[in-house]
Amino acid sequence: MRTQDLIEKKRDCKELTPDEIAFLIRGYTRDEIPDYQMAAWLMASFLNGMSETETQALVEEMLYSGIVLTHEHIPLPKVDKHSTGGVGDKTSLVIGPVAAACGVAVPMISGRALAHTGGTLDKLEAIPGFRTNLSLDEFKDVLARCGLALIGQTREIAPADRKLYALRDLTATVPFRPFMCASIMSKKLAEGIDGLVLDVKTGNGAFMREFEDSRKLAEMMTSVGRAMGKRVVALITDMNQPLGRWVGNAVETFEAIETLHGDLEGDFAELCLDLAAQMLIVGGIETDLNAARHTVRHAITSGHALERFRACIEAQGGNPHVLDDPKLLSQASKQRVITAPRSGFVTGVETDEIGRIVMDWGGGRRRLEDKIDHSVGLRLFAKLGDQVDAGDPLAMAYYNDESKFEEMDARLRAAYRIEESAPKLEPLIKAVI
Ligand code: URA
Repeated sequence: MRTQDLIEKKRDCKELTPDEIAFLIRGYTRDEIPDYQMAAWLMASFLNGMSETETQALVEEMLYSGIVLTHEHIPLPKVDKHSTGGVGDKTSLVIGPVAAACGVAVPMISGRALAHTGGTLDKLEAIPGFRTNLSLDEFKDVLARCGLALIGQTREIAPADRKLYALRDLTATVPFRPFMCASIMSKKLAEGIDGLVLDVKTGNGAFMREFEDSRKLAEMMTSVGRAMGKRVVALITDMNQPLGRWVGNAVETFEAIETLHGDLEGDFAELCLDLAAQMLIVGGIETDLNAARHTVRHAITSGHALERFRACIEAQGGNPHVLDDPKLLSQASKQRVITAPRSGFVTGVETDEIGRIVMDWGGGRRRLEDKIDHSVGLRLFAKLGDQVDAGDPLAMAYYNDESKFEEMDARLRAAYRIEESAPKLEPLIKAVI
């Protein structure tokens, strides 16, 4: 087989066979197919679509590109949660410790920032010393000891996603259902889980902006997981404004820590409680959602979840004192208020633009090898529906590069739509599948 023939086939809208998909994924994972050919195939598939058979083959090849873990030595249900990507979404940092405190083992393989969305690994690495590149043995050991271990894709687990994730980010081929499904499900199914809770975002900060597209993605992923014998539930959740009050790496880690300390106000905590409750149901710890929510809330207010996070941070080489003294997280050298340009109600937020502002100020990368400035971030004061007066603070910016302030200030002010009448607010959780 020749790679260029397969690119040509896809360019001409023909269906690839499972063997042809296997040839591409295996060749790319082994560094036998170069980035430029894989990029061409990615774009041809993105533009011309993939059939169900092709998608199924892609998921399987990506899953079996590495080891599929089992954790027979851990006598607990193994459940994870994964989000399709949003702005201000730091739920994994809360949900992992909470579920672990409630008797679920959480072997979590996450990703880095993708396009305008944040990544769990980058947020964790805002904790001094925290290692997300554990060896397989270390990963298993931390999971057994803490009930929770948090790493990225490795050369051993989901290696195809490790490479393709980065290439898709650089070739504008992220928001395509078959790729998202294969990327997410390959690494989740490789973790050795019994069940999975998916947070499928919808709205202007998500990769799927329209509800219908998000629903189709949720259905695709749940059916792949269920066909592999896993218990899977997907929540379709609103991403028409950043989740919570903070966007950036260190500042989001701070917000997650505050939540684990018992600050349960607002949309971020609401989503954490619901997702964690679903994990307990999927793991068979609870059967009733309200009871599960209660258990989850208790795990936080009792401090048990915080202690799980402390143990995990310590086991992964991080400084656990960040939980008591957030100043130990990366700190920006400058902070300045950004104000509302007019009076009225916040009726819209360009959520993807908020993510890009943080990224362009140094909080994200343009290329995989770029170093991230974990300290850059925004504290957002106004949520959808809030009333503001001209000159009121819209946000507090935390940054190091003063030369960009004016541009970022203008972009942030322009990202908010402020009008005379209050908007109709959407529910945070739009559907459960
Ligand atoms: N998260 C992933 O892991 N993969 C994607 O493609 C999108 C979000």
